[in-house]
Parts: sequence; structure tokens; C-alpha cells
Amino acid sequence: MVGKKSDLGEGKMIHITAGGKEIVVANINGIYYAIGNTCTHSGAELHEGELQGKELRCPWHGAKWDITNGNLIWFPQNLNPVGSYPTSIEQDTVYVEI
Ligand code: FES
Repeated sequence: MVGKKSDLGEGKMIHITAGGKEIVVANINGIYYAIGNTCTHSGAELHEGELQGKELRCPWHGAKWDITNGNLIWFPQNLNPVGSYPTSIEQDTVYVEI
């Protein structure tokens, strides 16, 4: 469980730990996305980065990640995806499936 929809407003991110995984969950236009929270470049925590639309910018060296699928959008070198997780909503509560 991530929390109530009201805890995660439009354009906001939240960091959770579940099943031993570090995950960042974001609300983009009322749709909730969940991807790995650890940048595969040098391990920065992505929830401390900057979210602009579907782009999540890593706080350390600026890699841009797609919050909708965990894939790399931009970086000078190729990086492995951070992974993504399905989300669901039940009775106003947001869930991530691990
Ligand atoms: S740790 Fe994310 S770009 Fe370097």
C-alpha cells in the first residue's frame, strides 16, 4: 500500500520500501506510476530528483528517466532501466504490485 490518493497530489512523488525494493511512486495527470528508486548510474535516490511531466531527473548527474516505464530517456551513456511496477487503486487507496 502506498497511501491515500489525497496523499499524492498531481505532479508529486513519494518514496516507499516494499518487499525489499526501493520504489518511487508518482501521480501524473491522475495516473499513478511506480518505478525503481535507485538510479542505475551511481545509485542516487530518484525521489530526490526533479519531476517534469513524465521525466524524472536524477539528482546527482542528471539522467532523465521515464516515470511511466522506468526506461532511460537521456544520459551520455546507456544505463540499465530502473524497472517498473503496476499500480492499482481500490477505494481511494493507491497500491503497488511487487
Ligand atoms: S547517479 Fe543518477 S545520473 Fe548518476
